[in-house]
Amino acid sequence: MTATNLSSFRNEDDVFLEEDIAVKDPYHLFKSWLNEACESPEIRESNAFCLATVSRDNIPSARFVLMKNVEVDGVTFFTNYGSRKAQEIESNPNVAATFYWVPLHRQVRIEGVATKVSRKVSEEYFHQRPRASQISAVASAQSQPIPSRDHLTKIENEINENVGPDGVVSLPNWGGYLIKPHLFEFWQGQTNRLHDRIRFRQPKPDDDNKDLVHDGENGWVFERLAP
Ligand SMILES: Cc1cc2nc3c(=O)[nH]c(=O)nc-3n(C[C@H](O)[C@H](O)[C@H](O)COP(=O)(O)O)c2cc1C
Repeated sequence: MTATNLSSFRNEDDVFLEEDIAVKDPYHLFKSWLNEACESPEIRESNAFCLATVSRDNIPSARFVLMKNVEVDGVTFFTNYGSRKAQEIESNPNVAATFYWVPLHRQVRIEGVATKVSRKVSEEYFHQRPRASQISAVASAQSQPIPSRDHLTKIENEINENVGPDGVVSLPNWGGYLIKPHLFEFWQGQTNRLHDRIRFRQPKPDDDNKDLVHDGENGWVFERLAP
């Protein structure tokens, strides 16, 4: 990779050192990397992440979704509550979320537990979305087989007629999930392949190697991993 491939936020030979982390709380670091990704003109959907879930039969599946919020208690995304991902979360709420910001050569991995947000939060967000998106969410039984594209268009037209131009679109079986992380890993790629990986996690009772495991803030510990 040449320096011109990297966003202006990073120099080619910037290493990622523990002492450079101003606040040793992964939410703080995540927000600062996310802000840099948002401000990078080369990155279009900096909030997109790959969400991995596991089925009742232990079969993993992954897809991209858009993060809508990052708060102190986690990361939120919205989806159809009847979709494959939602069914898998229902049977196993453990999920993994991976962000990759190519021009910054950075990856963030999050592991945590997903729970539904309140109906009020889902309803408020649903009605903030463009009307066409609201209608599409009603029309689409996400992840179910359908006969054709025309089938969807027909349903969409019927909903439009039923609701009318000024009617309120009712919230379908759709809403948000909050992923409450117990692990964040920050990866920064280097040209010499000696990439940097720093993992924040909740402490474990057998964390006795204080040379490798360091105390972070707000109950987190962190450690460096071999790339
Ligand atoms: C960049 C990107 C962002 C997406 N964002 C969402 C999203 O926020 N919510 C959603 O339900 N699907 C989103 N999708 C579609 C999903 O990847 C997926 O096709 C859909 O949710 C059905 O997944 P499932 O059958 O595994 O439940 C997005 C796709 C892409 C490529």
